[in-house]
Amino acid sequence: MLIGIPKEIKDHEYRVGATPAGVQALVKAGNQVIVQSHAGAVIGFSDDMYRQAGATIVASAAEVYQAEMIIKVKEPQTSEFSLLKEGQILFGYLHLAADPEQAKHLLERKVVGISYDTVIDKMGRLPLLIPSSEIAGRMSIQAGATALQIANGGKGILLGGIPGVPPAEVVVLGGGILGTEALRMALGLGASVTVLDVNVNRLRQLEELYAPGLKTLVSTASAVEESVLKADLVIGAVLIPGKSTPKVVPADLVRRMEPGSVIVDPAIDQGGCIETSRPTTHSNPTYIHDGVVHYCVTNMPGACARTATQGLTNATLPYALQIANKSFKRALQDDPGLMMGLNVCLGKITNKFVAEDLGYEYCPPERLF
Ligand SMILES: NC(=O)c1ccc[n+]([C@@H]2O[C@H](COP(=O)([O-])OP(=O)(O)OC[C@H]3O[C@@H](n4cnc5c(N)ncnc54)[C@H](O)[C@@H]3O)[C@@H](O)[C@H]2O)c1
Repeated sequence: MLIGIPKEIKDHEYRVGATPAGVQALVKAGNQVIVQSHAGAVIGFSDDMYRQAGATIVASAAEVYQAEMIIKVKEPQTSEFSLLKEGQILFGYLHLAADPEQAKHLLERKVVGISYDTVIDKMGRLPLLIPSSEIAGRMSIQAGATALQIANGGKGILLGGIPGVPPAEVVVLGGGILGTEALRMALGLGASVTVLDVNVNRLRQLEELYAPGLKTLVSTASAVEESVLKADLVIGAVLIPGKSTPKVVPADLVRRMEPGSVIVDPAIDQGGCIETSRPTTHSNPTYIHDGVVHYCVTNMPGACARTATQGLTNATLPYALQIANKSFKRALQDDPGLMMGLNVCLGKITNKFVAEDLGYEYCPPERLF
């Protein structure tokens, strides 16, 4: 199959659809890969590295979009819509349910759109979203540690303390993928860590892994209140799939936190789990509300685009190989979880939830092949 990897053009997006190692695996499997010049330049993946991996480097996006399958990171931008062609496979984060404009174009162009954000694995997880939560979870402790410094508005506490001086109190709300990575980092730095979750089985697993260092609590309003009031750093890692995040920490509670405490709320991309959170950017990541420093960057992995690209390729490559080697129809038929990723196909919406959110008629994919 002829596979194209364009340079991402979304604002401040430096990730790329595949690393040179990923390209090498695709080429080794018998595919031809064309990569747009400078696609990975900012994150240290030069054109020469892609050439050595077996890719052909082309100058323009128009040349890349001649391919049968496009592997990219973010949804196509306005200038890319006209480059898409009928029957072309588009594999990337489409986030289509919230993007009627893009949906219209993909339907008109009769593209086969397989979206990273709706692919499901055998355990019911979203395997192509996991790397992003892993990065954001680990970053949240780095961001929190920095924000705790006096110069950044924090109370001047070192997470791990020193001999004779106690460590910081870190409270992690939600013990899923992101929360687990956060608590692991915080424990590793020597902080005193408490995790709260509504899922007792998840707390059992975490306790097995991290006791006695980690304290676990069921997330009731009173447990949240007691923990947050003692916290130097609170991490918001709550998610209820398909819903906007509940406000687990009300504004009144934030007001009663000690000045200079820090809230890092990665869940902001789904609305945030702290009432006083509002979206921020990498260029202006924090603000102070009621004396508490808030860090609420919506696309945290963007700051570590090289690691993020490597993690994403690790997750997407097995799927890309299946699609390329078997034909997309066969690959989807063989894997119901990958079939969940098929959002649009030849002018129809083929994911039930996406169809519902966008108000389109749902077409079960089996009807198309
Ligand atoms: N800002 C970013 O760059 C970024 C990056 C990746 C993920 N995220 C976001 O981080 C959040 C967490 O993602 P995840 O992959 O860890 O999700 P996850 O589904 O793995 O974990 C969420 C956890 O929250 C728990 N939970 C639900 N309600 C709760 C409550 N009231 N109190 C405490 N815990 C509760 C769930 O039981 C679950 O264990 C999501 O909103 C995700 O979109 C943000």
